[in-house]
Amino acid sequence: MKILGIESSCDETAASVVEDGRVVLSNVIASQVEEHKIYGGVVPEIASRRHTEAICGVVEKALSDANCTLTDIDAIAVTYAPGLIGALLVGVNYAKGLSLATGIPLVPVHHLRGHIAANYISNEEIKPPFLSLVVSGGHSHIINVKSYTEFEVIGRTRDDAAGEAMDKAARTVGLPYPGGVNLDKISVNGDENKYKFPKPKVADSEYDFSFSGLKTFAVNLVHNASQKGEEVKAEDLGASFIKAVTDLLTSHTMKVAEDIKAGKIVLAGGVSANSRLRRVMAEECEKRNIMLCMPELKYCGDNAAMIASQGYYEFLAGKTADMTLNAVASMPIDK
Ligand code: KG4
Ligand code: ZN
Repeated sequence: MKILGIESSCDETAASVVEDGRVVLSNVIASQVEEHKIYGGVVPEIASRRHTEAICGVVEKALSDANCTLTDIDAIAVTYAPGLIGALLVGVNYAKGLSLATGIPLVPVHHLRGHIAANYISNEEIKPPFLSLVVSGGHSHIINVKSYTEFEVIGRTRDDAAGEAMDKAARTVGLPYPGGVNLDKISVNGDENKYKFPKPKVADSEYDFSFSGLKTFAVNLVHNASQKGEEVKAEDLGASFIKAVTDLLTSHTMKVAEDIKAGKIVLAGGVSANSRLRRVMAEECEKRNIMLCMPELKYCGDNAAMIASQGYYEFLAGKTADMTLNAVASMPIDK
């Protein structure tokens, strides 16, 4: 079964054809990163306009790269939540138009479910149930994935998302957007023990995260040093910050895994590309004899292959939509 996936929730216009949820036949991404760079982050209005310009060409290329026409497509899967509302609307309305014109079923996909499904592409043997750490620019969740379409959130951030914190720390040391990936690159050569960051705890939960204090600590550190005329090396601050964030993500995930006796852990979302997170997670899982899956680097960030993959399982579960489908800016994964 061939699914056409469409993704436009943030600053990537993407389309992909995936067979039976696992085999990627094409994966086209038109990134707007260069345009948003000068503003230091994504400008929603610009993102929507660029999606509108790019979407026809991106979908056509995804079909032709897969040697397909629309007659070969069994369902159209589209990200409908969560994300920037104006950006989501472009993908949703394009997919609705395509479905109405062709009669091909329309399948709405939750963006974070898509991030988790990126693992189905890279690891053919991975099947729910498993525990997933989903860390992106807007979300940080520990999720019990009970089946392909049943999710239970066990832990979450109380303030910033892990990716958001990475981006803010990167800005503090003068790195351009997209901050997280640049911070990762320079921090490989840094001393991660140079600065001792606090270990934030959430009063009434062992599983929830808080990252905003780490960000404030980094800002204050740079500010105090500059007042004293001292130098803060970006690579040392970056490495110490990444250590603080990834140790928090890892320790909380391991705590949940032990408590619910999870045998498999799956990483997902843009921050799952982080080199230290991947390394430390692998070490901790090996110690506990837990199987670890991580998406290939090219499927960690936003793409439509993951949407087509999840769309396949949503379609098998009968979760199609009609022309009343609308984009939703904020929606829990378990709804
Ligand atoms: O999943 P994603 O591509 O978009 C959202 O759904 O939000 O995640 C983007 C986030 C950004 O905050 C970005 O800085 C972060 O993922 N990110 C990274 C790395 N690559 C992307 N953070 C740390 N290390 C990386 N290598
Ligand atoms: Zn994403």
